[in-house]
Amino acid sequence: MRGSEPAEAVAHPNIALVKYWGKRDDRLVIPYADSLSMTLDVFPTTTQVRLQPHATHDVVIMDGALARNNARRRIVDFLDLVREQAGRSECAVVKTCNTVPVGAGLASSASGFAALALASTAAYELEYEPAALSRLARRGSGSAARSVFGGFVRWHAGAPDAPDPDRASFAEPLTGTQLDLALVAVLLETGHKSVSSREAMSRSARTSPLFPTWLARTRAEIGEMCAALDEGDLATVGAIAECNALGMHRTMETAVPPVRYRTRDSHRVLQQVRRMRRAGLRAWSTMDAGPNVKVLCATGDAPLVAEELKQATRRRVVVARGGPGAVLRGGS
Ligand code: PMV
Repeated sequence: MRGSEPAEAVAHPNIALVKYWGKRDDRLVIPYADSLSMTLDVFPTTTQVRLQPHATHDVVIMDGALARNNARRRIVDFLDLVREQAGRSECAVVKTCNTVPVGAGLASSASGFAALALASTAAYELEYEPAALSRLARRGSGSAARSVFGGFVRWHAGAPDAPDPDRASFAEPLTGTQLDLALVAVLLETGHKSVSSREAMSRSARTSPLFPTWLARTRAEIGEMCAALDEGDLATVGAIAECNALGMHRTMETAVPPVRYRTRDSHRVLQQVRRMRRAGLRAWSTMDAGPNVKVLCATGDAPLVAEELKQATRRRVVVARGGPGAVLRGGS
């Protein structure tokens, strides 16, 4: 037994180029459709799990403060799942440190649960292959399934009639693409969002008249996106990503009651990106469950795109490139 020696893991957020939006199975976190993302090289989450054999409850410390309510609940539920899979019962102290604002649509749950999956399986001595780790991370937060891997990653929904839906749904890295893609994030707001992505996607799937169309389009876009990445076709990658993200926002904005993450500032940035494109810059927008806009472009153009966006918005702008998968600190 590892005793009280902590296991520590680092994982990075990922941003989807074809989004995951809507679950077929809420408990197992099985999506309706495949999604595809790029893991970033910025905003890592570091998570440490230390078993406490004599403790009677788990302790969760997030960014130096004791986590409470829902934030704590999600981590304890995840530890329960790991303990069940490991056939163990010890409580743990979890210390997690984010370098990205939490709950602002900047993918902190993806890096958070990928790091927690890796650190907790190490602490409870579960030896999981990357695909199994991805399945486990998925149960914490769907998008975390993809942050287990670096670079471009595809998360398979699994067939609706798969005999074991949990087994059928995992992420894996895409090989064979040479596209040097950068992502320029414009940090408009870093506060906690009022509606969780979990609630927003469920509401969209249940009530938006646009959801079936968006889903059918997404299923087609996955294939188109893989082909464009294979060919290193930046313009097609950018155009599909922008169309997919805006389509996702339309589904939530037409849900009942609507969820509006896009603010006036978000619309200004979206417009600015269209303007930059008309002026000849190759740049496309994407957005997640929050008001912040991320701009996709070639790595070589990123400094110019970042400068233009900084001038136009006067906000903090962060340039990211493809980043690594989740790793354990200290070697193993
Ligand atoms: O993993 P969750 O439950 O935070 O869902 C995230 C969903 C989006 O970020 C909006 C899209 C995606 O594919 O990452």
